[in-house]
This record gives sequence, C-alpha cells and structure tokens, in this order.
Amino acid sequence: MTPELAASESAEQVLAFLAEAGDDAVSGEAISDKLGLTRAAVWKHVEALRGQGYRIDAVATRGYRLVAVPDRLRALELRPLLNTHDVGQVLHCFESIGSTNDQAKALADDGAGHGEVVVAERQTDGRGRRGRSWVMAPGRNVAFSVILRPASLPTSRAPELTLVASLAVCDALRRAGVEAGIKWPNDILVHGRKIAGILTELAAEPDQVHWVVVGVGVNVNARSEDFPPELRDQATSVLLERGQPAPRALFLAACLTLFEEWYDRHAEEGFDPIREAWTARSVTLGREVVVTLDGREVVGQAEALDPSGALLVRTAAGVERITSGDVALLRPRC
Ligand code: BTN
Repeated sequence: MTPELAASESAEQVLAFLAEAGDDAVSGEAISDKLGLTRAAVWKHVEALRGQGYRIDAVATRGYRLVAVPDRLRALELRPLLNTHDVGQVLHCFESIGSTNDQAKALADDGAGHGEVVVAERQTDGRGRRGRSWVMAPGRNVAFSVILRPASLPTSRAPELTLVASLAVCDALRRAGVEAGIKWPNDILVHGRKIAGILTELAAEPDQVHWVVVGVGVNVNARSEDFPPELRDQATSVLLERGQPAPRALFLAACLTLFEEWYDRHAEEGFDPIREAWTARSVTLGREVVVTLDGREVVGQAEALDPSGALLVRTAAGVERITSGDVALLRPRC
C-alpha cells in the first residue's frame, strides 16, 4: 500500500469513528487507542479532513466532534458513514447518469455482487413506476439503486423487498425529523405529500431470482421551485418539512444501513416482522381508497396487508386482494 493510500484509509477510519459518535465528542486519546495512531497523526488526519470540507469542532477537554460533512455523494464521504457488511461496501458514484436503476441492472447483468450500490447526483432519465419519469433537482436530492442477490427467496416473494426498502426509507426520514408514513406499496408521504418513491426491478425465472434492483429517490433538499409546477402541491422534501437542509451523505448512509438491517431481518425471520413494522408505519390502512388497476377502479376501505404483502380492500362486493396498482387516499382517518 502506498503511503498516500494508507493515510487516506486512516483518515476514513478517523471519520468513521467520529461519525459513529454522532453528536458526542471523542477524545484524541480514544481515537489514537482505537486506531493505533499517535495523537499527532490523529491531529493530522483531522486537519486533512477539515481541508476537504468536513467541519470538526475541537471541544474543550472532550476532544473532536463531527459537526458537518461536505454535501457530496461520493465514496469518500459515504463509506465511513456506513455501518453495513454488504450494502454499499462497493459504491458506484456518478455526477450524472441516465438512471441509477438502469446502471445497476447493467452491472448486475455483468455479475456485480450483492449489496453493490449505484448513486448519482443527477439523473437525466430517472424512472418511476408504471412508465412515469422521476425528475429531481441535481445536487439537492438522493437517488440510488441497490443490487441484491437474495440467496433463497422464491421469485413470488421478491415484491416483499419493496416493502423492506420502504421501511428503511421511512425510518431514515423519521430519524431526520420528518413525520413520514408509507402509502401502499412504495410511496413515502409526509402530511399527504410524496417525499420518496421506490422502483424495484428484477431478473428471475419462476424458481430462481438472479438479481433484484431496488431504486430509491428521496426529495431531501429540494425547494418548492425545484418541482414541476403541476407537482408542487403533491410533493415535499426534508428541507420543506423541517425548514432546514439535511446532510445528504448522512441521510443516504442511514438509508443504506437501515436497509441492510431490515433486509437481514427479512432474510432471517421472513415477512412477518416486516408486515408488522409496515402496518405500524402505514398511512393507507384504515383509509378509504381508490385503487386504479388494469383500467378499472376498486373503491373501498384499505383493511390490512396480507401475509404476502398484498393490500386487502373491503369493497361493497367483499374483500379484494390488490397485488399491483395505484392507490389514491380519500378521507383521512377519524
Ligand atoms: C415512483 O415513485 O414511481 C418510483 C420512483 C423511483 C425513483 C428512483 S430514483 C433512483 C432510481 N433510479 C431510477 O431511475 N428510478 C429510481
């Protein structure tokens, strides 16, 4: 390893240690003990990180505190913030790309491994569900796609992974101080406005999933004028909800870390805990809904998520099991 590479690895480790401490300060001594560095080397790495735009305060008698990270989505910023074993350990970061999902699918076809992630500052051809486009202001939001190779998930259960992802995004938003909830199957809403969407695509045979790509777009620091006029009253962002911008690298790292936690839980314990957690975060259940599917409308009350992730809607004619479609929420819950 070259001295430059070793120095950048140590700087990443210092950064990871500070990031893990969150709002707490960490003493120079604790960092040097943990990483096997001299105090002078720790100071040098802190200075180098400051030079790259990290704000690290020196707190009297208590040590160093990470206050702000540069607003860039690159491996250097993201890797130290991740607390994962697979997801995001290989990162493909782009300034501009057509669609992170398309890139992830091409990489998956070329043999990319489980957990590899594609991230872009800007998408020129971002895609949403049902052939819609996904438009986002460059450098303000978060768009990423995770390549998954589920070891033993039957193809029929692959749609559960969309709900797994929705839990992670919802939880990351709540941690960022936003009251997010999930609209079936994969929209994340805040006070009725959309803040994030998920597009899941896969290559599979009836008895084997080759790969799944879960693509996520979150409006993080978008301003009202960043949305097309026709979407302004339907969309929102973390910035608009809490009145101050969120550090995107920290937010994305939280999404990826939480995604891996929920993914592992799903792999180990099956769909039941996912269903329970999803139900607790749902803004769909208990509401009057209109589901548009295959050119017809189903009107009724969204009652429950069934054991396979389908939405059960009670209509005048009985209970309909919805496996795909667009859901519009009618009356708010009393
Ligand atoms: C939807 O709500 O319709 C789903 C939107 C999904 C958008 C994300 S952004 C990252 C990834 N790349 C894409 O082209 N689409 C997904």
